[in-house]
Amino acid sequence: MSDITYRTFDIPDALTDELRGWYDAVGLGFHQKQGSDEAAGRWREEVSRDGWRLDGAYAPASEHSLGAHIPVATFATTTQSINTGGGHVEPACFITDVTVRTTHRRRGLLSHLMGAALRRARDEGLSLAALTVTEGGIYGRFGFGVATQHRSAEIDTGLRFGLVAPVEPRVEMMPNDASVAVRRAVFDRFHATHRGSHQRLAFYDALLSGAWDWDSDGPNKAIRSAVHLDASGQPDGVLSYEIDEQSSAVKIRDLLALDAGAELGLWQFIAALDLVEKATLRRLSPTSALPWALTDPRALKVTGVEDFTWLRVLDPAAALAVRAFDADGEIAVEVVDPRGIASGTWRVAARAGRAEVTPATEAAVQVDIRALGSLYLGLADARTLAAAGLVHGPAADVAALARLFRTDGPPHNTSGF
Ligand SMILES: CC(C)(COP(=O)(O)OP(=O)(O)OC[C@H]1O[C@@H](n2cnc3c(N)ncnc32)[C@H](O)[C@@H]1OP(=O)(O)O)[C@@H](O)C(=O)NCCC(=O)NCCS
Repeated sequence: MSDITYRTFDIPDALTDELRGWYDAVGLGFHQKQGSDEAAGRWREEVSRDGWRLDGAYAPASEHSLGAHIPVATFATTTQSINTGGGHVEPACFITDVTVRTTHRRRGLLSHLMGAALRRARDEGLSLAALTVTEGGIYGRFGFGVATQHRSAEIDTGLRFGLVAPVEPRVEMMPNDASVAVRRAVFDRFHATHRGSHQRLAFYDALLSGAWDWDSDGPNKAIRSAVHLDASGQPDGVLSYEIDEQSSAVKIRDLLALDAGAELGLWQFIAALDLVEKATLRRLSPTSALPWALTDPRALKVTGVEDFTWLRVLDPAAALAVRAFDADGEIAVEVVDPRGIASGTWRVAARAGRAEVTPATEAAVQVDIRALGSLYLGLADARTLAAAGLVHGPAADVAALARLFRTDGPPHNTSGF
């Protein structure tokens, strides 16, 4: 499309026509209702806090078109962080709001925007890029692999609910507006200590406190907030929920807990809610103690397991040097990246938690760039990826790779974008 021009801009201090056009294009792309001026203003403040950079593809206006200020494709990036294990938090390029207008699909607009953004991030020294997806078939070709998953669950909170060991009740309900700072403080500690955690963007504050709901384009007065306190009275868990009276269910918007004690304490509170028979949540902790703590394990039903965040390694040597390794070991790996951004061969020698990564000439195993994304935070086993055709090498070397990348626990992420 020779008539397409591409523009990149930072968030201005006011809702300019250019910014409003970009915002409206995203709503169009995701089939959302047209946003009010208030919604657009709130969005501007939030993305400004996050430091988003916006890319747009623009077509010339014609008699019947939406106008030249509304891009035909959108793409946003922001530098945030991912916990790569061992308490290390690494800057990464978060990608979001990827849309191409129906009339301009399959002409390479996404490919252009993605290629430019990945190269730019790499040139700026970022070793990782991450995104979440609406459709699973799009991003593998750009080198992204599933890196964290989430489990949705339904919990019977009626008479069937009981815990095998008593939990000391240390939950307080708190005003929604006060929950924002408490949740941020608990999240900061969570993010610093949980491998796989992705930084929470600004929109979470309004969404989880009910100050603004993007679906209904207004405040959500149904939201309630509660906090779990540790033995010294410090918040170590936060809950955002709403009750749907018609289905006698509590919908958990966010259950953030620093440890199993806080998580079970919040579950006990949820089960004690009167007139409610069931709780639903989208992100059951991958290390949740609840299935083991219930007197009737069948009171919990996992209703779905889905890909959550996808990771694209941009600079393997830099990324592997900041990854925590739970096992010692050594192997030479060739990273195969059809887009050429991250190709190369390195020897990875891990001792006492960290790896020394040095260039090598010969590799024992070939790892597709998508597989590296799935190995990186500890989600996938290298032998499974080899069976899937994404890792190649003699079985003994693939097993050595699996041992080297194995982590003590699964990656734990609570935040999408
Ligand atoms: C998904 C979307 C951004 C693709 O944009 P596009 O400009 O048509 O994509 P391109 O023309 O650059 O195509 C790039 C490649 O992706 C493929 N592709 C595009 N959309 C796809 C989809 N929905 N499923 C699978 N493959 C897809 C193309 O066939 C092409 O493949 P190739 O490189 O092997 O030839 C666009 O369809 C869209 O805006 N969808 C609605 C919003 C959405 O779902 N956004 C994704 C948010 S995570």
